[in-house]
Amino acid sequence: MSVEVAVIPAAGKGTRMRPATRSVPKPLIPVLEKPAIQYVVEEAVAAGAQEVVFVLSDERILHHFTEGPPIEGLEDVVFRYVLQEEALGLGHAVLCARDIVGDRPFTCLLSDRFPLPGSTLLSEMAEAFDGRMVLALEEVEPELISLYGVVDATADGPHWQVSGAVEKPRPEDAPSNLALVGRYVFPSSVFDHITASGPGALGEIQVTDAINSLARAEGAVGFTCTEELLDTGLPHGLAEATVAVA
Ligand code: UTP
Repeated sequence: MSVEVAVIPAAGKGTRMRPATRSVPKPLIPVLEKPAIQYVVEEAVAAGAQEVVFVLSDERILHHFTEGPPIEGLEDVVFRYVLQEEALGLGHAVLCARDIVGDRPFTCLLSDRFPLPGSTLLSEMAEAFDGRMVLALEEVEPELISLYGVVDATADGPHWQVSGAVEKPRPEDAPSNLALVGRYVFPSSVFDHITASGPGALGEIQVTDAINSLARAEGAVGFTCTEELLDTGLPHGLAEATVAVA
């Protein structure tokens, strides 16, 4: 099934990249000469997106794509955006895109998860989309598991059947060692699940709670990725991404 819309939440506070983010929005911090978010947009377009919806707190991110001459390879992309006035959580950010996305399925890419050059993960996920949500998963060491959304999953050929998810579990409560890592293909029904889930861990509207209820209601597919996504929201992740591209 083709997935023509991509939602890119990019309205986080970026506290872990201070002082750079005092004046520069985190997604515009460059990896070599290109802002980190441009790699993510190019990944979305390579996976079939013709329309990119940014969720922003700072319109300078949109201007990078829409002002001046078109960016090579992105000339035909329709860029749209919605403002998230307050960083109320990733689930809330995704929900902000509801009016633009409507009843279409969409890929969702976190702007601070950086695709290593040549990564085909999202393209494969979009190609596999059959109406059920598709989730990128990464194996995580037990001592780090409580930093992540973690899924309940059983092996299904090369992929996983995901039956639920929990945000930031204690290691002894984690249903697996498979964490959500910032690439998703969502059916539009995810919006109802976000609305129904309300605030969760840390008082934020988490996307993991909606993923849990959507997986229970409709099933979900998990794709394991191995070191294909770096965290450019952290100084060492930004350094790794720079080395990888260089
Ligand atoms: P993070 O949890 O990494 O938060 O968000 P952050 O605010 O960007 O960074 P720190 O923790 O303050 O250093 C994960 C992704 O979700 C987006 C962020 O932009 C990032 O791409 N996000 C998060 C939103 O768009 N809105 C939110 O309310 C929360």
